[in-house]
Amino acid sequence: MRQRKLFVTTALPYANGKFHIGHIMEYIQADIWVRHQRMGGHMVQFVGADDAHGAPIMIAAEKAGQTPQQFVAGIAAGRQEYLDGFHVRFDNWHSTDSPENTELAQGIYRALKANGMVTTRTIEQFYDPVKGMFLPDRYIKGECPTCHAKDQYGDSCEVCSSVYSPTDLIEPYSTLSGVRPELRSSEHYFFRLSDPQVVDFLKAWTQDGKLQPEVAKKASEWFEAGLADWDISRDAPYFGIEIPDAPGKYFYVWLDAPIGYLASLKNHFDKGQAKNHWHAPSRTEASFEQYVADPAVEQVHFIGKDIVYFHTLFWPAMLQFSGRKTPSQINVHGFITVSGEKMSKSRGTGIDPLRYLGIGMNPEWLRYYIAAKLNGKVEDVDFNPDDFIARVNADLIGKYVNIASRAAKFVPGGTLVGSFGGEETRATRLVDEVRNLYEGREYGKAVREIMAFADEVNLRFDAAAPWKLVKEGKADEAALVCSECLESFKVMTACLKPILPALAQQAEAFLQCAPLDWSNAATPLGAGHKVGTYQHLMQRVEGKQVDALFELPQEAKAAAPAAQPAAKEANPAKTPAVGGAAEPGGEALAAEITIDDFARVDLRIAKIVDCQPVSGSTKLLQLTLDAGEGRLRNVFSGIASAYKPEQLAGKLTVVVANLAPRKMKFGVSEGMVLAASHADEKANPGIFVLEPWAGAQPGMRVR
Ligand code: MSP
Ligand code: ZN
Repeated sequence: MRQRKLFVTTALPYANGKFHIGHIMEYIQADIWVRHQRMGGHMVQFVGADDAHGAPIMIAAEKAGQTPQQFVAGIAAGRQEYLDGFHVRFDNWHSTDSPENTELAQGIYRALKANGMVTTRTIEQFYDPVKGMFLPDRYIKGECPTCHAKDQYGDSCEVCSSVYSPTDLIEPYSTLSGVRPELRSSEHYFFRLSDPQVVDFLKAWTQDGKLQPEVAKKASEWFEAGLADWDISRDAPYFGIEIPDAPGKYFYVWLDAPIGYLASLKNHFDKGQAKNHWHAPSRTEASFEQYVADPAVEQVHFIGKDIVYFHTLFWPAMLQFSGRKTPSQINVHGFITVSGEKMSKSRGTGIDPLRYLGIGMNPEWLRYYIAAKLNGKVEDVDFNPDDFIARVNADLIGKYVNIASRAAKFVPGGTLVGSFGGEETRATRLVDEVRNLYEGREYGKAVREIMAFADEVNLRFDAAAPWKLVKEGKADEAALVCSECLESFKVMTACLKPILPALAQQAEAFLQCAPLDWSNAATPLGAGHKVGTYQHLMQRVEGKQVDALFELPQEAKAAAPAAQPAAKEANPAKTPAVGGAAEPGGEALAAEITIDDFARVDLRIAKIVDCQPVSGSTKLLQLTLDAGEGRLRNVFSGIASAYKPEQLAGKLTVVVANLAPRKMKFGVSEGMVLAASHADEKANPGIFVLEPWAGAQPGMRVR
């Protein structure tokens, strides 16, 4: 068998925040693939790095009162904890803010330029005169030119989804300084992506079978729309790499980011670590440049669906037209959602990977669960808490782990008996099948195959009922069946090893076998082989652990109003009235609306700067609200039965800010404060004013 040389990467995470569960999912996907390759005896260099450059990181560093270098170093220092925690074993982790990357990026640029692939053009852009910098689109906001929603980003409207350029915004402002940006012109450098040579190359490159079909299709749509030249320069101040012979100009972060793959590999080579960790620890590869130019080396990138354009157009074109080798595979995955929802830190959904580890959850449960849900397509993966518990406990532990403990009891002295002729062919078939599935990143199917095999083994075990055989004086028969079960356990361990490396290691210790790989996976341990004493291999997930994973952080809890339990105490007998399925809170849901309908309601955070009783009314309180508008609003609210004025003054709440003003007996009310109550207030009294989590500021929109 030919030994493959594989250079494997995952996308380089922005160094402006910690890893989230989406990053971890990508690393697990790639790590499984790499471990599978190594089990096949292939040579893999698996590297990652932080994507350190760009305006957002520069701005985040400034806010933190640090230099960008200090800031990204702080982020980098936290990475290993996650990687070790989830058994993700990169051979090297580096940074795009490094000498290697500077050298490589400038070299690639020079080659592109020498090949006539770089051109300059003067463009007009928004400039923040206070900050003294050109503004990236996401730092410009204003009124949407299409639907007139306020505070929309410079590139697209979140309300009506229209796409435009920042100069189309009505009343634009800089989110950094608040001032109106000025149009200024400056010379920019472009990569000539629209050059027919480039277009022809990319058309062929994207359609020759190396991409997933749906990705290739997307690329062909992009060709139909036409490729525009790519703006690769940014003006100082910018945290990035200087463009050679262009004072004050830096590479746009997406130019040097993928070059960071090469920079990390080079750093790895320069450290003298580019050897095969698994099979030939002393053998080092040739030099970095020889390795990346070697036609036998396959360059494989794992990325998410949001960065396909960069990896299937810009990146191969940059490599090709600077005289380098292009990638062999771009493996695109979907996004991870949690209970069907996109991740959102602000709403507290999502899973914090460190919290997962911190509360003592087993990283291999997550690896197994994610593997069980992954396939080779660009499909989203949902983390569903109940499904997670079921798959780990019922499948992984119930079907696979437990067979070892159940069978070991009936094999006296741990000495295996019998020959496994018939089973060996079944095992070989399984191993071949599973290997193929790993190769195509069909991990979910691989897991299903392994679990189907586990079902067969358990069925045989149950049918033979070794505990009965022993009672009937047929201990030999029991030992025979159970030896077979342990042989099968070994095969399954090998098959699951890319997913469960730590468990596999423990299982190997129990089986007292050589490290399992694809060459020995289906070979029986054989009669006479002695296994060790079984020790428990894996705990079950407990529901309360998963609950703890999703619990709100402590500060958020403290900020939430404590009114609800008190109200319940007041009416101990009547609580069941709250929340029948059809009538939650005592009333059926209102008719369905669209997101556009909802967007018409402008909810804002407001500070209750003053609150007074209303003489002549037992129901109303008079609130003075600051909704961040540079003026105060007067609002009457029917909440006097629930709150004393001094309880509310100084608090934040949510106001319907675009409600037509209403003239009331006591004055004009300019908006409405949000509060919760049961439809049947008599049976379920209590009014609960909404209060945002700590950190919200007056004027922020609630959406
Ligand atoms: N810095 C760029 C990549 C440069 S590669 C030369 C970037 N960084 S990122 O931190 O935003 O994303 C890193 C990877 O995480 C990307 O592949 C992205 O698709 C992936 N994910 C981000 N959110 C994700 C999920 N919710 N689910 C799965 N992967 C997700 O983009
Ligand atoms: Zn709009």
